[in-house]
Amino acid sequence: MAITNEDNLKKIISHAKEYGYVFQSSEIYDGLSAVYDYGQLGSELKKNIKEYWWKAMVQMHENIVGIDAAIFMHPETWKASGHVDAFNDPLIDNKDSKKRYRADVLIEEYIGKIEAKNEKEAEKAQARFGDAFNREQFLATNPNVLRNQSKIDEINARFKACMNNDDLTGVKKLIEDLEIACPISGSKNWTDVKQFNLMFSTEIGSVSETANKIYLRPETAQGIFVNFLNVQKTGRMKIPFGIAQIGKAFRNEIVARQFIFRMREFEQMEMQFFVRPGEEMKWYEYWKNERIKWHQSLGIDQKYYRFHDHIKLAHYANAACDIEFNFPMGFKELEGIHSRTDFDLKQHEKHSGKKLQYFDTELNESYVPYVVETSVGLDRTFLAILSAAFQEQKLEDGSERTVLAIPAFLAPIKVAVFPLIKKDGLPEKAQEIINQLKYDYHCQFDEKDSVGKRYRRQDAIGTPFCITVDHQTLEDNTVTVRDRDTMEQQRVSISALETLFKEKFDVRKLLG
Ligand code: GAP
Repeated sequence: MAITNEDNLKKIISHAKEYGYVFQSSEIYDGLSAVYDYGQLGSELKKNIKEYWWKAMVQMHENIVGIDAAIFMHPETWKASGHVDAFNDPLIDNKDSKKRYRADVLIEEYIGKIEAKNEKEAEKAQARFGDAFNREQFLATNPNVLRNQSKIDEINARFKACMNNDDLTGVKKLIEDLEIACPISGSKNWTDVKQFNLMFSTEIGSVSETANKIYLRPETAQGIFVNFLNVQKTGRMKIPFGIAQIGKAFRNEIVARQFIFRMREFEQMEMQFFVRPGEEMKWYEYWKNERIKWHQSLGIDQKYYRFHDHIKLAHYANAACDIEFNFPMGFKELEGIHSRTDFDLKQHEKHSGKKLQYFDTELNESYVPYVVETSVGLDRTFLAILSAAFQEQKLEDGSERTVLAIPAFLAPIKVAVFPLIKKDGLPEKAQEIINQLKYDYHCQFDEKDSVGKRYRRQDAIGTPFCITVDHQTLEDNTVTVRDRDTMEQQRVSISALETLFKEKFDVRKLLG
């Protein structure tokens, strides 16, 4: 059974640390809040996720190209994009616990509790009516559910109105009216709500008098927008086309908990798709569909994913939704898909004084393209994969194993090779096999402890296949190949290994 609750998040965090996936940053100095380092296996998994995304987005689309823009950008970029003025979160402090919260998150969590009540009602009814149960009909007609839903709608409407009118007093009043208490102190003794800008700043230039304040980018997207014409012209790109990028982003998050879910330094995989004005909704739907397909191609059960339409649209969007994932702490945003209109390009035209237009030869006219953006957090994808993969299994013989059932093509170590014993030429033969496979697959040699213990170690780090070299190998050049998920073993000729693994790690079908 895959995990679904906070206790299991703790297990995943300690497993990730124990096996070299994720460490707290600067741990010997007691760590740095909401900053993490990826260890020897974590960095491999991260690299594999990036490669898979890049393949799906860039390599598989002839009209999408990738770039790698700098983290530092001219400070005017962030005025143009609206981040200097509007990239704020509403924060509120509890006067008793002195803890700081995002006001919108407090309200969302309150709504989440009402949603959970509706879910419980549905589960109870399902148990009562069995196969005859019609969930949609139940949710649309049950009086308790309808009462709860109208409360949710009322809260959402009030919150949306407050945010649209910059009415922070109204947000505080909503928190008070809902009688939301601090989870730590239990008190309702709140400060006023204030806006807090999430961008980190630093100075560029070596002489303090002339140094300029610059920002660490809070999203990678702006590096794409400012390069729109460079790429379009040098790549002779024709609309519709996309520019993709993977890179670090930085946000001084107010609430920085939940492991690598919300970090102050993280990585995004973003793609801006430039389209004709008026065609953006068609492409918005297209990319919603493409992106959910990408997530589902990872082999994680579909029930872990859902779409969530935004109530409060970001300053640049005319339509937006999230792909949410059922993390150990519940359904949360994994990816954002936004129809960003021509906002960013027009703003950069205005602030730079340079034209950012496209001449459409079919229409025989110039225009500022509209943009549909897909933006997925690399670290959140990592956490989604890790949490769905983490399983504690009781086996038929009564023993237990912890296994990371990571999709084989993403696993950090693809193949482990064991000599049955440390003599009789078996280690040398195992090394020969590694030398044959290592050009294509990351392999690991292990000769310590019993083969059973070695299997457990590889299960725990998610290695999909283990090869054991034994005395028969020396006679007939065959080995056993053990499958992580089924634990079944088959005897295979060494000369057939490359073909076998080619098929096992093939992503062709997934990308189709
Ligand atoms: N360019 C659009 C943009 O940045 P966003 O919804 O703010 O949109 C996109 O961020 C994705 O980046 C999110 O869906 C999430 O996966 C990831 N992300 C955002 N903030 C993050 C944080 N503090 N830590 C980890 N990932 C984060």
